[in-house]
Amino acid sequence: MIPVLSIKNLTKMYGQKKVVNDITFDVFAGQIFGFVGPNGAGKSTTIRMITGLTPITEGEIRICGYSIKKSFKNAIANVGAVVEMPQLYPYLSGMANLKLFASFYGKQAVARIPQIVKLVGMENRINDRLSTYSLGMKQRLGIAQALLNKPKLLILDEPTNGLDPNGIVEIRNILKVLAEKEHMAIIISSHNLAELEHTCDVIGLINNGKIIEHKTMQEIKGIVSSKQHVQFLCNYPNYAALLLKKKYQLTSKVVGNSILVPLKEANIATVISYLTFKKIKIYSIKKIQKSLEELYFELLNNDRPSTSII
Ligand SMILES: Nc1ncnc2c1ncn2[C@@H]1O[C@H](COP(=O)(O)OP(=O)(O)OP(=O)(O)O)[C@@H](O)[C@H]1O
Ligand SMILES: [Mg+2]
Repeated sequence: MIPVLSIKNLTKMYGQKKVVNDITFDVFAGQIFGFVGPNGAGKSTTIRMITGLTPITEGEIRICGYSIKKSFKNAIANVGAVVEMPQLYPYLSGMANLKLFASFYGKQAVARIPQIVKLVGMENRINDRLSTYSLGMKQRLGIAQALLNKPKLLILDEPTNGLDPNGIVEIRNILKVLAEKEHMAIIISSHNLAELEHTCDVIGLINNGKIIEHKTMQEIKGIVSSKQHVQFLCNYPNYAALLLKKKYQLTSKVVGNSILVPLKEANIATVISYLTFKKIKIYSIKKIQKSLEELYFELLNNDRPSTSII
């Protein structure tokens, strides 16, 4: 299966500054790829190169096998994109905006409008002027516009920026339908890893122009659960820690009247039985898990070069 989007050793220089530094990844049909990183990491610059809005300094981008450099027309024919705020006319209705853009693509695109409007859930407001739309509605109309040419690759640069939790869920549901039912490959950029948890299949974490992690969401969740601790509030925490070290080689941390034990869910019951057998009284048990947001900051901090003030 050839990837819908293939990026190889992509680099972008602005003057002497390397803002995208030798990145490589593929996105396949039906996959939602989350491009995550802090402000200035290089997400928009990469997206601008994929959509031909800025030239590639080095490397290669292929869309459905077509090179952006060598066969731009064939490559871009497969792309729908909303880069930053969608470019739409505020004094026209949503429908008039869509008709205008669809007319560039021909009759087939115009005929698809009702189906697209339904997909983005805008049937009730599509004939209202755009200037009366909320941010969430404008974003949904932007996605509708990007779908007019039946793209195989949909690119959304920070589509949930500024949206409330409801708006975020609405966009997420639209993207899931597009990936699952239409087998579209989707790239969505964000600076919030936690927000992508329920949306993306694959995560590419970018920092200072480099991809520092490229993992499935499943793998990311695996990292989070491997860092899970269980806190036992008990009567003799130091003794309990010693017992667990001897019996199971577990390195616990004593915090006040409790111990923090790096423990998988499957082993909690065994530890409780053993401590109870050893006459330790357990008053409470609490699972302590890193959030995705904490993991995100940890990964970014690991990537930071160590600095010395001497
Ligand atoms: N036209 C330009 N000329 C010079 N430098 C630029 C230009 N566009 C972007 N940059 C720089 O490239 C770097 C990457 O910017 P980019 O917009 O790709 O980041 P981003 O990951 O999209 O960040 P954000 O989350 O803020 O949108 C930044 O340091 C930015 O200042
Ligand atoms: Mg950006």
